[in-house]
Amino acid sequence: MKAYEMQQFGIDNLQLVDRETPQPKGHEVLIKFHAFSLNYRDLMFVDGRYNPRAKFPAVPFSDGAGEITAIGEKVTKWKVGERVCPIFMQDWRDGELSAAKSKTSLGGGGDWDGVLREYGAFDEQNVVKIPDHLSQEEASTLPCAAVTAWNALAVSGNLKAGDTVLTLGTGGVSIFAVQFAKLFGAEIIATSSSDEKLAKVRGLGAIETINYRTREDWDKAVLELTGKNGVDHVVEVGGAGTMAKSVNAVKAGGHVAVIGVLTTAGDFNPISILIKAVRMHGIFVGSRTMFEDMNRAIEANKLKPVIDKVFAFGEVREALRYMESGAHFGKIVVRM
Ligand SMILES: NC(=O)c1ccc[n+]([C@@H]2O[C@H](COP(=O)([O-])OP(=O)(O)OC[C@H]3O[C@@H](n4cnc5c(N)ncnc54)[C@H](OP(=O)(O)O)[C@@H]3O)[C@@H](O)[C@H]2O)c1
Repeated sequence: MKAYEMQQFGIDNLQLVDRETPQPKGHEVLIKFHAFSLNYRDLMFVDGRYNPRAKFPAVPFSDGAGEITAIGEKVTKWKVGERVCPIFMQDWRDGELSAAKSKTSLGGGGDWDGVLREYGAFDEQNVVKIPDHLSQEEASTLPCAAVTAWNALAVSGNLKAGDTVLTLGTGGVSIFAVQFAKLFGAEIIATSSSDEKLAKVRGLGAIETINYRTREDWDKAVLELTGKNGVDHVVEVGGAGTMAKSVNAVKAGGHVAVIGVLTTAGDFNPISILIKAVRMHGIFVGSRTMFEDMNRAIEANKLKPVIDKVFAFGEVREALRYMESGAHFGKIVVRM
């Protein structure tokens, strides 16, 4: 089978190689992948920022969708032909995250190869069914970005109709957060560096939008829009450079889902967290149970992921460079 492999970091060091096609044993199912999606983590992984101690050779990417083409002799849960996605952390099926579970993510340079290959064998417990109304390309966007946004709002945030949600930028996680917030009947305030993208995010249901380039004090804009109260939830994907403003924009007793590291420079004084009794909650994707709960909501509402652009399997480097440019709105997909 064909697989993308890295022997060292760098987009140009991603090599298409031949590997032996795995055979499913015991409780394993064999997935023939049809599509993959990119996460910012993949870009960080490939250029060496995510895990400087990665084991090589490494197959990158966590998110793939495909069909089961063979099953091990002990498999009872699945049949050949069913459409599935592997879960992000193979050992986080349910309950709380643990240090051991967090080491089982796909494509992070640890013991688990990523999905950027024609076939992969996975334990039958570590894959989830693709909602029927989604294509393989749409389904490939779910395992990391969508589950993260779901965990941030539906699980950690206990989101309720009428809550206000602030999303930062219009990347994969943020656009899923907008879609889930809309689905719950929440009011969305979205930011972006581009007025064109802000028009698109209004089309998805954001009631207010702020250009964080032209309005650098976007936290003050959020306070103006909320009668000086602040929002109930911030989907915080920016990290060091946005955290102080996110905490300023959240209401007293509000919730900040701490997710991303899109920016690295910034100073943040944690005193406002305690003065406002803000609930800060670190999010690391989510469990299989969260993925399955999310898929039920996606299915019931016929929700469609927002795909910006689809690249061919031979164009993975171009897809990563496109992500690097920040031109995308929602998800970038690679078709097998
Ligand atoms: N903890 C977890 O479990 C988890 C899971 C998934 C992702 N993440 C992290 O979450 C972040 C987002 O991931 P992603 O895959 O959604 O990334 P992505 O699709 O590449 O999102 C990039 C977008 O973020 C926006 N952005 C960049 N800098 C910004 C800033 N200073 N303020 C506000 N928005 C900014 C830009 O949107 P505009 O062009 O609209 O300005 C940019 O296009 C990354 O740091 C990623 O590592 C964490």
